Amino acid sequence: MSVQIAASILSADFTELGKAIRAAERGGADAIHVDVMDGHFVPNLSIGPPVVSSIKRTARVPLDVHLMIENPNRYLEAFAKAGADTLSIHVEAQPHLSQALASVKQLGLLAGVALNPSTPITALEAVAPEVDLVLVMSVNPGFGGQRFISTSFEKIRAMRSLLKSVGNPAPIEVDGGVDASNAAELVAAGANILVAGSAIFGEDDPMEATRALRAASQGQPVKESS
Ligand code: DX5
Ligand code: ZN
Repeated sequence: MSVQIAASILSADFTELGKAIRAAERGGADAIHVDVMDGHFVPNLSIGPPVVSSIKRTARVPLDVHLMIENPNRYLEAFAKAGADTLSIHVEAQPHLSQALASVKQLGLLAGVALNPSTPITALEAVAPEVDLVLVMSVNPGFGGQRFISTSFEKIRAMRSLLKSVGNPAPIEVDGGVDASNAAELVAAGANILVAGSAIFGEDDPMEATRALRAASQGQPVKESS
């Protein structure tokens, strides 16, 4: 499975979202990562279905929607209608995980499960055979631009073994503090999808930054920015 880059628009200029998305796509982004926050599950507010609908009209690549909200079940249909391709639900926000994953699949979407840094991978044991994707948070969710938590490497390795043990080849996505300096090591640990916000949209040239991240994920030397 080749590595995918999911550009997180949380760090983009929201008045120029179309432009930001096109730049990431030209740089080779495989997906647009959309962070949905409710001010309860995480201490921040972001966007909802209407903005996802607008993004869907302009994006050419799939929309990877990360729900950082309480009661995600209440909103699955709204985000499906808005154009999400993947919906990731936090294990900490959803006691009936298996049922929620089934609902996402019934809507015709890929069903992902996200874990906070302090949530052990054992929280996923029961649903490991059912997930289409696992999203490992490598920062505490809520904000872009935070520092990568280095224990995430080991967590990704352990998650890959858990998935292997149940015969599920689902991709592992890593989100938070991902940049050219840790991309190759994340891939070596077992990550298949790299989410990057500030490493793409915090740079002067998001297209070039997307390319640079992919090159780094493939083990090419990181160019120093001037
Ligand atoms: C954080 C979000 C991330 C965020 C990542 O809660 O889930 O997707 O945009 O931003 P960076 O790449 O800047 O850490
Ligand atoms: Zn995210």
